[in-house]
Amino acid sequence: MSQHKTIRRKTAPDILAAKGGEVIPCLTAYTAPIAAMVDRHCDLILVGDSLGMTVYGLPSTVGVTLDMMIAHGRAVVTHSERALVVVDMPFGAYEESREQAMRNAARVMAETGCGAIKLEGGAHMAETVDFLVRRGVPVLGHIGLTPQSVNALGGYKVQGRGADADRLMADAKALSDAGCFGVVIEKTTASIAAKITTEIAAVTIGIGGSPACDGQILVVDDILGMFPDFRPKFAKVYAELGEAADKAIGAYADEVRARTFPAPVHTFKD
Ligand code: KIV
Repeated sequence: MSQHKTIRRKTAPDILAAKGGEVIPCLTAYTAPIAAMVDRHCDLILVGDSLGMTVYGLPSTVGVTLDMMIAHGRAVVTHSERALVVVDMPFGAYEESREQAMRNAARVMAETGCGAIKLEGGAHMAETVDFLVRRGVPVLGHIGLTPQSVNALGGYKVQGRGADADRLMADAKALSDAGCFGVVIEKTTASIAAKITTEIAAVTIGIGGSPACDGQILVVDDILGMFPDFRPKFAKVYAELGEAADKAIGAYADEVRARTFPAPVHTFKD
């Protein structure tokens, strides 16, 4: 009889059930090999629209399309087995109406197999969240610095200072009450991220938020040091893979020029 290992993938309700318990490690992933690695260590994988910048070299996330998200989402779902995979809804794919959001979220879920979607925005998105959740789409909210609104926010500034903290609290409560299982809190003061965590039912996932958040997320390229010239204050670099890759590519090109690669060991006999 063959032994069959059954691995149950985490669901949005599993992540919600972790509220107030052990902290939830989350990371982004956009490709098959990174998805498989992140899946071994994290409970939630976000196919973030940050891929517009990290993979495609776009100046912001505004130019990311639904087709890009679906292609990368499918690769990540296929090459992971235990983490909840959340796929970001790109700019312009959900803001127009709750019907537009449902149509595109259904496409993302059907074509990628992901377990939830993420969308940006606070109280003004609550009606859409309620509409999606009631129709079977688990939603992760995203407040604070919302990169898709970078043109309206006037840059990637810290959010929630002074009176702005009340707005963030109202946004978080509206999303949680509308049925979000979690809310990403990006680049805010630590105090408002901590306060939101104690006051809402949804899990909070911090990125430049607070150590008190229920979970933490970072862009995987940032922790791997892929962009030596761009290091957000909130991202810790755990490996310098960008420098290592540059060195390896340089060494390869040098050896090709010197005709020391390929060596006999890399060639085939008759
Ligand atoms: O797109 C993304 O990677 C994100 C995270 C930074 C939270 O939204």
